[in-house]
Amino acid sequence: AIERTFSIIKPDATERNLTGAVNAVIEKAGLRIVAQKRIRMTKEQAETFYAVHKARPFFGELVEFMTSAPVVVQVLEGEGAIAKYREVMGATDPAKAAEGTVRKLYAKSIGENSVHGSDAPETAAIEIAQFFSGNEIVG
Ligand code: CMP
Repeated sequence: AIERTFSIIKPDATERNLTGAVNAVIEKAGLRIVAQKRIRMTKEQAETFYAVHKARPFFGELVEFMTSAPVVVQVLEGEGAIAKYREVMGATDPAKAAEGTVRKLYAKSIGENSVHGSDAPETAAIEIAQFFSGNEIVG
């Protein structure tokens, strides 16, 4: 089925001017960027977005990182977009990511790992709604 997933190009990537390079990998995989904006995430936005990780030891570091520089938030659309984008991103830890994946190509570490993608349809819907209104998504 045609799905939509939520993506973030993270501060380590925007800082190195890699927005276009990441988008090229996304588009080459057949995913369509149907919404996109560059924002500076607030502490509140980052804490809300990563609320499921609140108890993790890296939570503070994660919020600090995500608010340290601009991010590009996106909605990606395509056949099986959620699983497909997870494949395109590669493993969370770039040392374990497959050749050709965004994280293998560009990620610096498990924390500064260049991209985020939703893990399931329910989280995709919640994450998209946190950053986009319906009229900002143009399929
Ligand atoms: P993401 O897909 O955005 O979802 C949660 C994020 O937490 C993850 O990508 C990583 O960037 C980050 N993360 C996961 N594990 C660690 C870790 N051990 N240390 C620091 N950050 C982590």
